[in-house]
Amino acid sequence: MHREFFELMAEQFQGLAFPDVTLKTGFSQIPPSLVSLETRFSRNVPLKIPLVSAAMDTVTESEMAIAMAIHGGLGVIHRGLDPKRQAQEVARVKHHLHGVIERPITVRDTDTIEQILNRKRTKNYRFNTFPVIDGNGKLVGLMTETDFAFASDKSVTAAVAMTSFNELVYGSPGLSPQDAWEKMRQSGKKKVLPLIDPEGRLVGMYVFADVQRIISGDANAYNLDSKGRLRVAAAIGVLDDAYEHVPLLIKEGVDAVVVDVAHADTIDVKETCQCLKRDYSGVDVVLGNISDQDSVKRHIEWGADGVKIGQGPGSICTTRLVTGAGFPQFTAIGDCAIASMDSDDPVPIGGDGGIKYSGHITLALAAGASYVMVGSLLAGTDETPGETHKRGEIRVKRYRGMGSASAMAESRASRARYRQEDAPQGKTVPEGVEGDVPTRGPVSKVIAVLMGGLRSGMGMVGTVSVPDLQGKAHFKRLTPSAQGEGHPSGLLGMEATSNYPGGVS
Ligand code: IMP
Repeated sequence: MHREFFELMAEQFQGLAFPDVTLKTGFSQIPPSLVSLETRFSRNVPLKIPLVSAAMDTVTESEMAIAMAIHGGLGVIHRGLDPKRQAQEVARVKHHLHGVIERPITVRDTDTIEQILNRKRTKNYRFNTFPVIDGNGKLVGLMTETDFAFASDKSVTAAVAMTSFNELVYGSPGLSPQDAWEKMRQSGKKKVLPLIDPEGRLVGMYVFADVQRIISGDANAYNLDSKGRLRVAAAIGVLDDAYEHVPLLIKEGVDAVVVDVAHADTIDVKETCQCLKRDYSGVDVVLGNISDQDSVKRHIEWGADGVKIGQGPGSICTTRLVTGAGFPQFTAIGDCAIASMDSDDPVPIGGDGGIKYSGHITLALAAGASYVMVGSLLAGTDETPGETHKRGEIRVKRYRGMGSASAMAESRASRARYRQEDAPQGKTVPEGVEGDVPTRGPVSKVIAVLMGGLRSGMGMVGTVSVPDLQGKAHFKRLTPSAQGEGHPSGLLGMEATSNYPGGVS
C-alpha cells in the first residue's frame, strides 16, 4: 500500500481523493479472469468479492443483501427499521437459500387484473406468479404469467382469471427443497409451489428457479456462513439502541453488526463496543465511520473486529461542508490501513463512500482497504427499497443521505446517526442531500461491471490477489490537467456506457 506515499502526504498535511492518483502498471502473468478477489469484511466474516452495500434506507434491505451475498459480497441492512423488522430482514436473507419465501406477495380473489398489474408496476415486482387468497388468508388459486396473458378483459377479478386451487400442486410447511423440486418437476410448468397449513392458509412458497439452484449446488460464488446460509450484516446505533436490536439480530443469525454513526470515535461507541464484545460471542462488531489513525488505534483497543473509513466522501454527503471536519477518502484509507497494520492486532479496514468508478475500487484496495462500501453505484437498481416514479421521460428511484432533511425528519435512527436525536422538531441540521437516480435494472449487471473493472485494474498492476495488490501498489499523483486527460473528450453527443455515465468526477 505504498507506505512512503502516505507518509509524505501526512508530512505535508495533504489529503487526496481518488481522482488525484493513479496506479503504476506492472508485469502481468495471469489474465484478469483468474485474479482472486477474496478478502475480509471483519475478523471472522470473509468476502468473495470486496463489495459491500451501504447501510442506507434507499440501498440495503433483504433483497439487496441477498443479491450481494449471492455474488460473494455482503449487504448491511440499514438501521432505520424497528428492531423486529430489522431482524426479519436478516431472517429473510438467512432463509433465502432454503428456498422458502415465508411471506409471499399475494393478491386477493376480489382484485381485478388491472389493479394487480398496476400494483406490479408501481412496486416494481419482477415476478409474474401470485398466489390468490380469500378474505381468510386461504389459498384459492394462482395467477400465473399465462393467466395474465389470457385475461383480455382487465376488469375481471383474479377469481375469474386464475388457475384455481383444484388444478394446483402444493405442499405442507416443512417440505424440503428436494421434495419441493420433485413435486414441481412432476406437476410440470408451474414456477412456484405454495405451502399451505391444514386449514388451507398460505404459509410459504417455493420458487422453481431458487429450488433448482439449491439442488444443482450452483453456489460456489456465494458468500455463505458455516451452515450454508447467505451472510448478512446489520447496522445498529449505540448504547440502549444497540441493545434493543442486537439480541434479535443474533437470534436470526446475523454475521456482523456495524455500529453505524457519522463519527465513531466517541465515548458512546467505546462503551457500546466493549459491552457487545463482553456480552455476545459469535458475532463480529464493526465500528464506523472514522478517518484518522488515532481513531483506528482506539477502535482496535476497544475490541472492534473491523473498522470503516469515510467522513465526507459520500455522493450524498455534505458533512465536510456543514461541519468543516473529515478527510479526503483516498488518504484516509491509506492512513488508517497503516494504523491498523502497525497495531498488535490488525483488523480489516473498509473504505465507505466516494466510489464513482470501478477504478476507484482498485485504488481503495491498493491503499489498504479490504473492501469498499457503495451507495450511489447501487442506487436505482431493482433490488433497492422504494418505488419507481417518472421524472419527465425517465423512470427514477429515490436515493437519499441518511442525514438528509427527509431521512432525519422521518427516522430517529437517522437523527441519532448524526447525534441529533434530541433536536426539536424541524431543528435538525442536515448533513446530506437527496434526489432521484435513473432506474438501472438488476444489481447483478452493476456488480459484474464493477468487478470486471477491478480485475482489469489488478491485471494492469500485475497482481493476482487483494493482498498482492496492496503489496505491489505504487501511486503517482495527478495534476488537474492529468485528471482531465483520463476522461474522454472531443465528442458531440457522447454515448454513456454502464461504467461511464458521462460526467467528470
Ligand atoms: P456513496 O457510495 O458515495 O453514495 O456513499 C455512501 C456512503 O455515504 C454511506 O455508506 C454512508 O457512509 C455515507 N452516507 C450516507 N448518508 C449520508 C449522509 O446523509 N451524509 C453523509 N454521509 C452519508
